[in-house]
Amino acid sequence: MQSMDLTKLYAEHLADLERRYAPVLSAAGFDALAIHSGSLKKRTEFDDQYWPLRPTPYFHHWIPLSQADCALILQPGKRPILAWMKVTSFWERPAKPESDHFIGSFDIVSIEKSADVKQHLPAGARIAFLGEDKATATAWGLADEVCNPLPLVGPLDRLRAFKTPYEIACIVEASRRAAVGHEAVLKAFRDSDRSELELHLLYLAATHQDDPETPYKNIVALGANGATLHHVSYVKEAAHVPCQSLLLDAGSTYLGYCSDITRTWVKGSGAAESAFAHLVAEVEAMQLRLCGQIKLGLPYEELHDDAHRQVTEILRTVGVIKASLEEARAAGLSRSFFPHGLGHSLGLQCHDVGCALVKPKVDNPYLRNTSTITESQVFTVEPGIYFIDRLLDELRQGPHSSKIDWPLCDELAQLGGVRIEDDLVVTGGPQVTRNLTRELLPVGGGG
Ligand code: GLY
Ligand code: MN
Ligand code: MN
Repeated sequence: MQSMDLTKLYAEHLADLERRYAPVLSAAGFDALAIHSGSLKKRTEFDDQYWPLRPTPYFHHWIPLSQADCALILQPGKRPILAWMKVTSFWERPAKPESDHFIGSFDIVSIEKSADVKQHLPAGARIAFLGEDKATATAWGLADEVCNPLPLVGPLDRLRAFKTPYEIACIVEASRRAAVGHEAVLKAFRDSDRSELELHLLYLAATHQDDPETPYKNIVALGANGATLHHVSYVKEAAHVPCQSLLLDAGSTYLGYCSDITRTWVKGSGAAESAFAHLVAEVEAMQLRLCGQIKLGLPYEELHDDAHRQVTEILRTVGVIKASLEEARAAGLSRSFFPHGLGHSLGLQCHDVGCALVKPKVDNPYLRNTSTITESQVFTVEPGIYFIDRLLDELRQGPHSSKIDWPLCDELAQLGGVRIEDDLVVTGGPQVTRNLTRELLPVGGGG
């Protein structure tokens, strides 16, 4: 992105945040807000090493700075203050921000210790604190009652579901970076037999990311490991008999914003591979249909419920389910093959806030998007079909066992599972959405 464009979009983003935060703050009974950028967390209390910082998302919403113990002080109508911790350690240094476009938008004060923030807080104001570390609030002279107050946090989470053009531009760039990695890994999978660890490292190199910078730990699953939804315990050696399927769920970040992309590929021409390629093609077609079904005002949970209907049809089409459609639906068979939610809000967090304010129905315990589809939301659409031992064992031992073709299931289980995941922006235009992933990776998976 051109830095001029970024600067302009960022200025508009800040103006928008100022406009939206002010009434929330006042409705919650506060005049000002002090946001902590975060504290470094020890890997274990028994050691002297720390995890890399994941900044407080409310801080990151305003400033793309990943440095511990900084403060943002907001007071509606006044220029925001950034209290920037001076780095004096000769052991470590925080990474330089990727872009400095944010610097001119704040009154910047340098601090040498956390308690220095106190002198920059507006005197006599009712100040709320946002951050994980209550000791920091205490150091700033703020009481426990004003730490992360629910009347403030709830509405601030809600507004984060609606992205500004700046945020969307950041997610577009995060998607572009991730797409480069997906292309590199797909090529390596097609041309050679690499281990999961090797593919993971290849993805990091291609996307120019260190492991902690990825929005979530890359999911790199060969063969049967594709059935572990978040498979991150990479096998380090390539298998003697090469794995013929790959599920790669990996994203990238840009200025704090995430992409979250899954592709599933199969190679080889044996019976299991051909049956699995058929399944991948069906999931790919379903995923595109689901993206096309999105419209303004539709409850996302209806889309998720429809995905279950379509998964049932696919399982019949490929021969895994032997019962009639009605019987299969009544027995809820799709639940054993598609146990996760269809998607989630995406932004500063991979599983972003603001779209799961109401609980899903009991049938959909893991659904993370229960919102009504609305302009400016960004979310994923990620249906899947997996052969998960635990769920299949329950099905095998239950009353519906005879409705399943078990030899076919066992054959497909060697190849794990299929997930295809795109990131979409709700534009509200004639197309309703913009599919950021397909713009870069037109095909979601295949043989
Ligand atoms: N990468 C985790 C997820 O898709 O939700
Ligand atoms: Mn996802
Ligand atoms: Mn994902």
